[in-house]
Amino acid sequence: MLRARIAGTGSYLPKKILTNKDFEKIVDTSDEWITTRTGIKERHIADDNESTTDMALIAAERAIDSSGVSSDDIDCILFATVTPDMNFPNGACILQDKLQTQNCIALDFSAACTGFIYGLHLANSLIATEQAKNILLVASEKLSSITDYTDRNTCVLFGDAAGAVVLTSSDTSQGILGSYAGSDGSKRELLKREGGGSRLPYNKMGPFDYAKLYLYMDGKAIFKTAVQRMTSSLGFALDKAGKKLEDLDMIIPHQANLRIIEMVREFAKLKEEQVYVNLHKTGNTSAATIPVALDEAIKEKKLKTGDILGVTAFGGGLTYGAAVIEI
Ligand code: UT7
Repeated sequence: MLRARIAGTGSYLPKKILTNKDFEKIVDTSDEWITTRTGIKERHIADDNESTTDMALIAAERAIDSSGVSSDDIDCILFATVTPDMNFPNGACILQDKLQTQNCIALDFSAACTGFIYGLHLANSLIATEQAKNILLVASEKLSSITDYTDRNTCVLFGDAAGAVVLTSSDTSQGILGSYAGSDGSKRELLKREGGGSRLPYNKMGPFDYAKLYLYMDGKAIFKTAVQRMTSSLGFALDKAGKKLEDLDMIIPHQANLRIIEMVREFAKLKEEQVYVNLHKTGNTSAATIPVALDEAIKEKKLKTGDILGVTAFGGGLTYGAAVIEI
C-alpha cells in the first residue's frame, strides 16, 4: 500500500516580533495575564508588503531544498489558509508560478487551525490512489491582516507564519499511518470572520459592519470543545494507524493555548519532553502552527527517522483532526 512520507520540511517566521510588553502599550492587558492564560510571550508579525504567499514561498523553498525532490517533480500543491492573498486566483497557483513547478493540481482550502491536518489527510489519499506522487503541502497565515488590535480578547493570541512539507509516495512503513478529519458546522459562530464574502460584501457594508472584517472568537466556548475534539481525533487516527497511545514518541498539538496543550498531554500520558511546544514564541498561527513546529522539532533533532509522531488540531468551522506519522 502506498502512503505519503514526509521527505522535507520548511518554515518561515517574519522578522518583526510583538512581545507581551508591547501589547501592554496597545490594549488593557499584562504580560502576566497573557502568560498565565495562554503561555504566549511573543509572536511574529509580517510586514505590510509581505503577503501570505510571500511567506509560503520561503517555507516551500526550504521544504523542497531539504526533501531531495526537485521542484520539477511536484505534481500537486495543497495550500491551507484562511488569510489568502485574494479571493482568487488561489495561493496554490501563485506558488506554482513562483516555484516554476510543472502543470499540477493546485488547490487552496480553508479549514482554519485544522488546515494542515486536513492537508495531510487529503495528501495521503491522493498518494494512496496514485493521483499524485510528490505533494507540496503549505500552510500560511497572515492573521495580523484580520486581527483587531483594539480587541484584547483576540489580538494578543495570534501571529503570522508559514510552514511546508514535501510529501512523497512511500511503499514502506514510513509516512502517514492513519489520519482522521471531522467537523461540526453547528458551532460555526464561535470562530469566524464574517465580512468581505458574498454574504456581506465590502460594497454592501455599513459603518457598523466594519468590525466583521476582523476575526471573532468566543474563546471560552472554543476552549471547552478543543480538548475533547483534539484528544478524540488523536484516538481515531491511532486506531486507523493500528497504534496505541504508548506507541507515540512525540505529539505536536495545535499551538493555541498552553493549558489546552497540557490537557492533551495528560490525555496522551506523555512526558513533558514528548510534547513539542513553541507557542511562547509564535502565538497561534492557525494552520501554520503544526508544520512550523514540525520543522523546528526535526531541525533540533527532537524527532528522528522511525519515530512515531501524533499531530492533532482543532479550529474554526468547527474543524478537527489528527494524524499518526512514522518519521
Ligand atoms: O486556534 C483555534 C482554536 N482557538 C482556541 O483554541 C482558543 C481557546 N480559548 C482560549 O485559549 C482562552 O479561552 C482565551 C485565552 C482566549 C481566554 O482565556 P480565558 O481563561 O477563557 O479567559 P476569559 O475569556 O474567560 O476572560 C477572563 C477575563 C475577562 O474579564 P472578566 O469578564 O472576567 O472581567 C476578560 O475580559 O479576562 C479578560 N481578558 C483579558 N484580560 C487581560 C480577556 N483578554 C484579556 C487580555 N488581557 N488580553
